[in-house]
Amino acid sequence: MEKGIIFSGMRPTGKLHIGHLSVLENWVKLQDEYKCFFGIVDWHALTTAFDNTENLQDHIKMMLLDWLSAGLDPDKSPIFLQSHVKEHGELHLLLSMITPLSWLERVPTYKDQLQQLGKQGKDISTYGFLGYPLLMAADILVYRADTVPVGEDQLPHLEFCREIARRFNHLYQTDVLPEPKAKLSKIKLLPGVDGRKMSKSYNNDIPLNATQQEIIEKVQMMVTDPQRIKKTDPGNPEVCIVHKYHSIYNTEEIEEIRESCQGGKIGCVACKKRLAKILDNVLSPMRERRSYYEARPELLQDILADGAARAGQETSKTMELIRKAMNV
Ligand code: TRP
Repeated sequence: MEKGIIFSGMRPTGKLHIGHLSVLENWVKLQDEYKCFFGIVDWHALTTAFDNTENLQDHIKMMLLDWLSAGLDPDKSPIFLQSHVKEHGELHLLLSMITPLSWLERVPTYKDQLQQLGKQGKDISTYGFLGYPLLMAADILVYRADTVPVGEDQLPHLEFCREIARRFNHLYQTDVLPEPKAKLSKIKLLPGVDGRKMSKSYNNDIPLNATQQEIIEKVQMMVTDPQRIKKTDPGNPEVCIVHKYHSIYNTEEIEEIRESCQGGKIGCVACKKRLAKILDNVLSPMRERRSYYEARPELLQDILADGAARAGQETSKTMELIRKAMNV
């Protein structure tokens, strides 16, 4: 049976953290089951940061290193920049002709984000930002992908993409565009070290490229049971961030740790030391892969160039079908 086709992407907005790891691990697995295309969607980054592009190239490079160090294999699946594969742009333009404005205006993320960023004094009432979901639809449809691994927050965008595919097929009486389905993975939701949502901007994250020392420092910052003063006090693991991390990364010892904490037998300092060690075991193979690639900037260029060329073979085929269906 022919393999299904996957496209997925991320906006290059800065370095990734351990909260993103389960998404990347999932991509690594999918590489064997599907024909995958992974795009660093730099045009999407412009939709909100058009006036702040000085760091864009750095962010792109960091994202590529994060992906490769997590184990994505560019031999198995093309890894490329959206802006290198011009057909993403062409399809976006052609689809814009058939996209009712009202469809874009009612995508729930649109008004939400407009308001949120508006509160921060940022005006993104641009044509490009309104078209964000359409550009995303073009990313997917230009590969005629049938499956898109995304988080739940992206479901409205995927539904929009399906509606556009349906409208295109209906208008031009064709079946060129398959309606892609979302593949929701069980994402391990990791809180930041202070218990809030993990985010670089709160400085409560553990970056994927964290050194051993940085891991130790971040784990030391983790919030534990505030009621627990002395080691012999019984602890409440349910409210403890350290425990939450143990429950995800240290499944073998979790029962023992829970009992020791509840019985006042292990102190928070010792418990944190154990966690820092475990997290270091998770990140250290990534560190090795990262330094391999970091030492070879020309290899990084080759990976992106080769990725764009392979992606382009698929996208040019799709565009021929699209142009033919539309008579352009
Ligand atoms: N909107 C996605 C996000 O913020 C990124 C993205 C752009 C994407 N194009 C895509 C994801 C196509 C999947 C498929 O996470």
